[in-house]
Amino acid sequence: MTPPSEAPEFEHLSYQVEDRVAIVTLRRPQALNALNQDALIELADVVEVIAQDPEVRVAIFTGEGRAFVAGADIGEIAALQDVFAAREFAILGQSVFNEIAALPLPTIAAINGYALGGGLELALACDLRVASTKARLGLPEVGLGIIPGFGGTQRLPRLVGRGRALDLIFTGRHLSAEEALSLGLVNRVGEDALETAKELAAVILRNGPVALALAKEAVGRGENLDLQEALEIEADLFGLACATQDMREGTRAFLEKRTPQFRGE
Ligand code: COA
Repeated sequence: MTPPSEAPEFEHLSYQVEDRVAIVTLRRPQALNALNQDALIELADVVEVIAQDPEVRVAIFTGEGRAFVAGADIGEIAALQDVFAAREFAILGQSVFNEIAALPLPTIAAINGYALGGGLELALACDLRVASTKARLGLPEVGLGIIPGFGGTQRLPRLVGRGRALDLIFTGRHLSAEEALSLGLVNRVGEDALETAKELAAVILRNGPVALALAKEAVGRGENLDLQEALEIEADLFGLACATQDMREGTRAFLEKRTPQFRGE
């Protein structure tokens, strides 16, 4: 039996594990969950907790109240003293979001409301995005005289294409959930983002955990390579998948016409 997961305490977010799904909820209601440096550091800490918790198989990131995350904290941005401090701020946000992107399990952003600037960039660092019908998504940074600095100029064009990304970055407009769905920026829209994310997680959880991690690794490592190099990575990781107990169990269960019991090994 796996011991129950500990529930560490944070100031700007909450963390819980339900049925093998970690749920991280950003909580800075006075600023619509905008990310200040402390919240970014707590996010990095919680990602570390997730990475080390063998109980967790899927992680969901969401926000409390009417916002997912309304961006980086504009008060802190306004107070940045010089080029170097501003660059460090961007690198902090990028490194935290890189850690989320590198988690070896599926991650889902449950976009319950505003996902603007750093909020959309957080969602872009997740593998999948589901939005509530009330969600509003955008990169409004140029309206503040800055540019997206937590990965938005890089992850958005990779996801939706250069033209669509530059449209959103140049105009700073807010997209509805439906428009985000039609652009492929979100995967699903539902009445309640967290419930929709949990439903998606439940479907993912039926599958082999090592296979999920290897599939994520194959897609991630192959993304910026030429096709032949990327296919070689796929073949190597396919080989690894076939060396797992999960592969034995999954194929045997199919042949025996039963539900597989994956153990993640
Ligand atoms: N940083 C700091 N504080 C923020 C914030 C941010 N990114 N986004 C919202 N807040 C604060 C507001 O200053 C306000 O604080 P106050 O009550 O002390 O005045 C509070 O959150 C509520 O926001 P408010 O603007 O009053 O709500 P609204 O419903 O009228 O508008 C938004 C909601 C999301 C459209 C609007 O808050 C907004 O445009 N936020 C900034 C989005 C942005 O540019 N993000 C990118 C930052 S790089």
